[in-house]
Amino acid sequence: MKVSALLSLVPLVAALPGSHVSTTKTKDVNGAFGVTAARSGSPIHFLPLTASGSHFYLGGQTSTYCPSEVVPGCSSRTNSTIIYGQSALDVAVPGGQAIYVDPSGALSFTTPHSAYIPAGSSSGPFTYVPGSSSDPLGSWTYSGKGASGFMACPVPASNSTRSAAARRAAAAAAPTWQVFAAQQNATVPTGNLGDCLGFDALAVGVNVSSSNVAWEYI
Ligand SMILES: *[C@@H]1O[C@H](CO)[C@@H](O)[C@H](O)[C@H]1NC(C)=O
Ligand SMILES: *[C@@H]1O[C@H](CO)[C@@H](O)[C@H](O)[C@H]1NC(C)=O
Ligand SMILES: *[C@@H]1O[C@H](CO)[C@@H](O)[C@H](O)[C@H]1NC(C)=O
Ligand SMILES: *[C@@H]1O[C@H](CO)[C@@H](O)[C@H](O)[C@H]1NC(C)=O
Repeated sequence: MKVSALLSLVPLVAALPGSHVSTTKTKDVNGAFGVTAARSGSPIHFLPLTASGSHFYLGGQTSTYCPSEVVPGCSSRTNSTIIYGQSALDVAVPGGQAIYVDPSGALSFTTPHSAYIPAGSSSGPFTYVPGSSSDPLGSWTYSGKGASGFMACPVPASNSTRSAAARRAAAAAAPTWQVFAAQQNATVPTGNLGDCLGFDALAVGVNVSSSNVAWEYI
């Protein structure tokens, strides 16, 4: 489905990630946005992008941390995945947290207090095109290393004892969807690119203040 075809679904925007942190309209005032996948007729349609364990998923829980013993106001910090600029998580932790694509093709983020990015990773280009007041649905994409955007790949719950076919069946039954750059040489969890689904990353600007952004994503 083209983004333009989603205009009739504008009320949906209120349910997109991060929109609840806005006190007014979901208008991009500071370059911050949440992402929702669009691939109509698929199980990933309208699942939110979530950051967890240095990687990104569709659906599931975002993993944030805020040290309430030393940081005031942790309870007002968002638990949604909010991106800032083109390729950073919107965080308060000193040093920030960058987004990159690791050598396997997995969309990844740096750990707090570390700028470490593995050799062979790609830092972009990532491109955020904000929506407007009449059309709040913007877009986010990645075009490094011959990729065209993003894809979601099912993650087997366990791969220790079962055959590849059994793992794929299990992943299809109760999938966790991990986000990769849509590139032909990605190394994906089931080992089969054909299991992955390309998607449009809908970006909705959020008006989030520095006291409401996550402290850090873990
Ligand atoms: C953004 O949020 C701030 C603080 O809540 C508010 O003062 C401002 O009017 C908001 N801007 C928009 C465009 O919603
Ligand atoms: C985020 O989760 C933490 C821990 O459960 C909670 O204290 C905090 O209030 C939540 N933030 C928001 C904005 O709901
Ligand atoms: C994947 O292909 C791209 C484009 O040809 C290339 O830049 C990149 O190095 C390749 N990655 C791996 C891990 O081979
Ligand atoms: C899957 O198996 C490979 C090779 O045996 C191992 O390196 C990897 O850590 C396993 N992944 C999970 C999620 O258990």
